[in-house]
Amino acid sequence: DRYQLWGGCFEEEPSSVLRRLNDSLPIDSRLYREDIQGSKAWAEELYQSGHLSTIDNEAIQQGLDKVERQIEEDLSNKGRLNDFEEDIHSVVERRLREHAGEAALRLHTARSRNDQSATNTKLWMLTSFQRAQNEIIRLISVILNRAEQEIDIIFPGYTHLQRAQPIRWSHYLMSYVWSFRDDVIRLEEQRNRLSSCPLGSGAIAGCALPIDRRRLAKSLGFQNVTPNSMFAVGSRDHIVEFLNWASLCGTHLSRLAEDLIIYSSQEFGFIQHSDQYSTGSSLMPQKRNPDGLELIRGAAGHLQGDAFSFSCILKGLPSTYNKDLQSDKEILFRSYDRLLDCLKVAVGNVATMKVDADKAGKLLSAGMLATDLAHELVRRGVPFRRAHHLVGAALRRAAELHCDLQHLPHHEYLAICPEFGAEEELRKIFSWESSVEQYTSEGGTSRNSVLSQIREVKQWLQNY
Ligand code: ARG
Repeated sequence: DRYQLWGGCFEEEPSSVLRRLNDSLPIDSRLYREDIQGSKAWAEELYQSGHLSTIDNEAIQQGLDKVERQIEEDLSNKGRLNDFEEDIHSVVERRLREHAGEAALRLHTARSRNDQSATNTKLWMLTSFQRAQNEIIRLISVILNRAEQEIDIIFPGYTHLQRAQPIRWSHYLMSYVWSFRDDVIRLEEQRNRLSSCPLGSGAIAGCALPIDRRRLAKSLGFQNVTPNSMFAVGSRDHIVEFLNWASLCGTHLSRLAEDLIIYSSQEFGFIQHSDQYSTGSSLMPQKRNPDGLELIRGAAGHLQGDAFSFSCILKGLPSTYNKDLQSDKEILFRSYDRLLDCLKVAVGNVATMKVDADKAGKLLSAGMLATDLAHELVRRGVPFRRAHHLVGAALRRAAELHCDLQHLPHHEYLAICPEFGAEEELRKIFSWESSVEQYTSEGGTSRNSVLSQIREVKQWLQNY
């Protein structure tokens, strides 16, 4: 028989199709720990403020512990709960009745599933934020390690995916480290807003029995209490924030994935992804496909969609609780699981891929030093705009002669402009190493600038 928390004034059962649409147990059973934790704290608060007897409180506390163990067992044996009830709140109360008898009927005093469910979700988010954060920290560490070890590698930097300037590979890697570092900080900024306890808000109006909401919130590990009962049961802004955060973090992962996919194509070919993170083709024996990264790129689309779809659900809702809100957990869990898998795949993929420094270096071409050549003219007093055009003329002349800037004869340079100067000096420009070493200002691609980025992030990492 189905234990229902409501229905006293109903004459008929809900239709089976409404039940199917309404039942949330397969999803919210994931919150059984939080539900029980919240109920234990609630009973304790009812007891502390004189609304529950010692005996009943004890029966409830011990009963809830038993329910928790029982559910844990069921989940580990069967992988899901086979209870008939509509949601986890009803399951816990029915099971509690079996252990605590009549005392169980007092647990829901002055409480609503509206404040209960909002509290459960926030409790879950507080612990899950920690896990997500740990995973990003791992990713940052893995990228940082490579950046440290591969500081000597110089490869082409691209803008518009056209060869731009020589770049230290580590500088490129660090550009993602900074994005992920910001993701960690953004997540932390959400935690304060998240950490306010809705319990004691009832269905809409608050709690009619005098209780100490602050003591209750503290006992659950919250920093604060929600300041308005209607806000408490109706707002899902913390979930919107999280979903949009996950979507942005997914976007960072996706761009990294896209780069690494391109760099492992045969046309670039300086990265090889490990067997662990690649798959083959059923037809073409030579294929090694970067599926892990492609799945990350696809997942970023799902994350954006989830963030958007949840905002769509909220935007037309009248204030406080409406059943539309029930899907908050489905979307939250889905996005969270997806993001965590993506982070783990990214960690594994980046940690195990091989970077071929020689191949990376061979992708460089003399044309990528055109900017350096212009800067050399600037050092000799030529205004930059003029220098830009003069180097342009050298490029045009080199194309006519079917050579590159490095092999353009010296007299051709002098014919364009005498400031190109002595041949020996001019030839010195054509070095990848001295090219990147010019960029010594903060945030540049010189060795020291990159090393100081690495140091800064390492120091920041010590807080975690
Ligand atoms: N399962 C619901 C949810 O998670 C719990 C709140 C239901 N409240 C209600 N009055 N029907 O949103």
